[in-house]
Amino acid sequence: MGMDGVYKLYFGESNLPTPDFIKEAAARAMRDGFTFYTENAGLPSLRRALAGYYSRMHQVSLDPLREIVITTSGVQALNVAIRCVLDPGDEALVLTPAWPNGTSIIEMSNATPVQVAQPMMDGRYGIDFDALEDAVTPRSRLLLYTSPSNPLGWVATEEEQQQLLEFTRRHGLWLLADEVYERLSYITGPGEPVPSILRIADRSDAVIVVQSFSKSYCMTGWRVGWIVTRADLAARAGELNEFIVSHAPSFSQKAAETALADGEPFIAEMIARLRANRDFCLEALAGLPGVSVPRPDGAFYLFPRIDGLSDSFGFCRRLLEETHVGLAPGVAFGAGGEGSVRLCYAGERAILEPALERFGSFLGIAEAVSASGSHR
Ligand SMILES: Cc1ncc(COP(=O)(O)O)c(C=O)c1O
Repeated sequence: MGMDGVYKLYFGESNLPTPDFIKEAAARAMRDGFTFYTENAGLPSLRRALAGYYSRMHQVSLDPLREIVITTSGVQALNVAIRCVLDPGDEALVLTPAWPNGTSIIEMSNATPVQVAQPMMDGRYGIDFDALEDAVTPRSRLLLYTSPSNPLGWVATEEEQQQLLEFTRRHGLWLLADEVYERLSYITGPGEPVPSILRIADRSDAVIVVQSFSKSYCMTGWRVGWIVTRADLAARAGELNEFIVSHAPSFSQKAAETALADGEPFIAEMIARLRANRDFCLEALAGLPGVSVPRPDGAFYLFPRIDGLSDSFGFCRRLLEETHVGLAPGVAFGAGGEGSVRLCYAGERAILEPALERFGSFLGIAEAVSASGSHR
């Protein structure tokens, strides 16, 4: 972290600042007195704005004050959701490779994560329902999946969502859908999110959606997210919030309302830029020896698999030290992740171009050295 001049493709964020209209909304909110405590479940005005968003984007009707809870980020939404559902000794199924925080939060709840790797089938990631069936035990309480996926870029089809829902209904599990990347989609019409699980679940289902303002509006530092869930769990989540952070910052919540109201043109521009970045990176990787990478349908990551790689951590460390290119090692993303590295393409082209060039040269050198029998 202390190294200078690093091309940082390891974090899940763009180097674009939050748009000015959102910053100005926060300043206005402070001037207007939004510097006090709010409800633990968040400002009613923001919860109503989110209900409007779900009605516009997903044609889903929500009760804003009973089914939506504002949290201090997506990660805190995951934390509250998981802690509301799991008792010590419980088990939770997690589809991996996945952003590791869900697994860590399950462990911090004194429960056991059971990782089930998503297999690659015909050039696309899928879900191994036989492996899921085998992984269920009487202590299983929850299934966590992420769509669009970090790091895979996989987007669950409606059929896969339906199967996940049926699976969790049949086994009496909570279905926890991390949808923080729902707006970063390359497979839907302009401005359309990928379909939320809320479209097919009904409001009495044991379903929890975790969401955030971080990715869609370049608001990673603002710490505002939300949960949509069944009214009884939402009430508990609001109560639990009290003992963790009480509520998200008041002026961040007001600024988030502005993001929802006026953010669509910004999102459209960002997706056009991300799509171009994705295509540029795919093309740059396509020519590299021993690298295979599926085309992501959403989010802003590539997860190239490198032939023969068995220590992605060591590989990323050497890449960083020798070329100053920072990637995330696949092993960090759990079962199925080793052998790959994750690259975030949300940054500017001025960063991606030299970083990929250096990555390519490094791979060429690594390849030549391993061919000559010396192991680095
Ligand atoms: C899959 C996933 N879920 C949730 C989050 C949490 O984002 P935040 O805590 O910034 O809202 C991230 C951030 O990288 C993520 O990748």
